[in-house]
Formats: sequence, C-alpha cells, structure tokens
Amino acid sequence: MILVMRPHGDLACWRHILILCCVGALLGAVGARTCCKTDSARSVLWMPAMNTFRRLDANSDTKATYDFYSQILGFTPLETYDVGNGTDVWRIQAGASQIKLSRRNDNRTYVEGAVTDATGLRLWTFFFTDPGALLRNFTDAGLEPPAFEGTAPTRRWAADFVGLEWVGEEHDVRFDTTKHVFRHGATYVALMSFEKTLPADTGTGGIQYVVSDVDRVQQLAKCQDVSIIQEIETIPGYPVRTVWLEDPDGIINYFAETAESRGEEEEEEDIG
Ligand SMILES: *[C@@H]1O[C@H](CO)[C@@H](O)[C@H](O)[C@H]1NC(C)=O
Ligand SMILES: *[C@@H]1O[C@H](CO)[C@@H](O)[C@H](O)[C@H]1NC(C)=O
Ligand SMILES: *[C@@H]1O[C@H](CO)[C@@H](O)[C@H](O)[C@H]1NC(C)=O
Repeated sequence: MILVMRPHGDLACWRHILILCCVGALLGAVGARTCCKTDSARSVLWMPAMNTFRRLDANSDTKATYDFYSQILGFTPLETYDVGNGTDVWRIQAGASQIKLSRRNDNRTYVEGAVTDATGLRLWTFFFTDPGALLRNFTDAGLEPPAFEGTAPTRRWAADFVGLEWVGEEHDVRFDTTKHVFRHGATYVALMSFEKTLPADTGTGGIQYVVSDVDRVQQLAKCQDVSIIQEIETIPGYPVRTVWLEDPDGIINYFAETAESRGEEEEEEDIG
C-alpha cells in the first residue's frame, strides 16, 4: 500500500516490495502455524472407525491367535500382507475395524504382564450380539467359556430390541464400575453391573416410549419372545393405546401410542 502511494520506479522500490513480500510470507507462515496448532485431523478422518494392531512376541503362535479370532470369535479373515523383511501382517475384519497381527520389531519397548502393569494399548473389547453362539464356540473347542458382564442381556435389549443409540462405555466414578450408555434423543440410559447377584426391583422405576405404531412393537415383542406383561390395551377415557413389556432385568418398558404420535406417522405416509 505504501508503495502504491509513493511510486519511485527505482530499485529502492523493488527493495521495498521485496521486504513487504518477505513480511507477508512470514505473516502467512505464522498464520498457517497458528492454524496447525488449533485444528484437529478430524476433517480428514475418512474411515468411520479405527484399525488396531498387535505385535506378538517370537514365542507366540500367530496362526493360533488368528484362528481364535476367525474361528472362535467369528471375525472375517482377510488376506495376509507381506510387508517385507519376512514380516507378515495377518488381518482380520471385526465389525467396522481391522485387527492386524504381526511380529515385533526391535525398536520399540515391550512390557509383558497384565493390563494394569504398563501403559499402552493392552485391552481389546469386542461386542457380540449372540453370546450363546460365542459360548458354544468356546465349549466346542474345549476352551474355558468367558463370563459376560451382568449388563449384557439388557444391553442387547436396549440396542437390538428398542433400537437405542449406543453412546459408549464409561467408567462411573461414583460406583467405580463400567457404565454402558445408550441414548434416544434427549434421554440417556446408563446400564451398570455391580458384579454380584442382586434382588430385582421391578416396580420402582420404568420407562415409557411414545411410539407411532404400538401394534408393530407388540408384533416385534411376540416374534422375539420378549416378555409381555400386558398386551395392547386402551386406557378408558384417553386416546392412548399401550403395550407393556419387561426388559431382561424385569424392568417395565411400556410403549404408548397417542392420537398425536399416531397422526404424525399418517401425515408422513400421506407425504410419501
Ligand atoms: C462361532 O463359530 C461359527 C463356526 O466357525 C462361526 O460361524 C461364528 O461366527 C462363531 N462365532 C460366533 C460369535 O458365533
Ligand atoms: C529384518 O528382520 C530381522 C529379523 O528377522 C531383524 O533383525 C532386522 O533388524 C530386520 N531389518 C530391517 C531393516 O527391518
Ligand atoms: C523400526 O524397525 C522397523 C523394522 O523392524 C523399520 O521398518 C522401521 O523403520 C524402524 N523404525 C525406526 C523409527 O527406527
């Protein structure tokens, strides 16, 4: 700008231009660095999941681990890559993620022991929709069957029957246990197990879902052997039809169809 106001046309001017360019480049560089310091890589995360790898020590039977993942756990085996210098990467598809098994290289630190003996990626958690099938696979192979956490059946109920959105697992500080969090709109459900057999409180609290089609819910309950406390009924004097179900903990989950919720769906159908 200064140069435009004081045009000289001599070499000094070019020197000014040069200096300004340098300042501009410097400012640009500082700007870019500031950007780098605050931006995350989120905008370039392309795959909506992460893959993980495990490096097994020389005494490990990689094939046995691979077979365990594919044959017992039921994950899909993928092509093994040879990445050079005799290193094979054995790959398995587990849900949306790949697990990659390879041998160890010498330039990292490996600490043997339990999960809590070192920092690092030392525990993998997998979710199974059919624990019965998994237990059968262990038993058939002569392996000690795993113990499922107490919330597993109710987690299946929340995710697979009701269709709540799975938020994730968190450590609950108050009760020092894992909580499994689900969500539907503004309401969160946190399932916790206290690692012992407890008496069932099936009366104090329950959940109501307002639905557009209560007949569909009853139909699903019947074909999935869900415990039905009360088949569809109407509350006299109110335009509400409800079906009362029990989740695996015996907690009442009832589904209510109101004139309004029913109407909303009809409107949608008309539009469609
Ligand atoms: C159990 O084994 C069968 C046969 O190998 C397999 O199809 C299934 O995916 C395995 N895992 C589970 C969890 O069912
Ligand atoms: C190749 O593998 C051997 C072990 O088989 C290892 O000692 C060596 O460091 C590796 N070389 C490179 C370049 O990775
Ligand atoms: C570590 O070793 C592997 C092979 O064993 C090699 O490919 C890699 O470049 C090495 N990395 C470093 C940081 O030295």
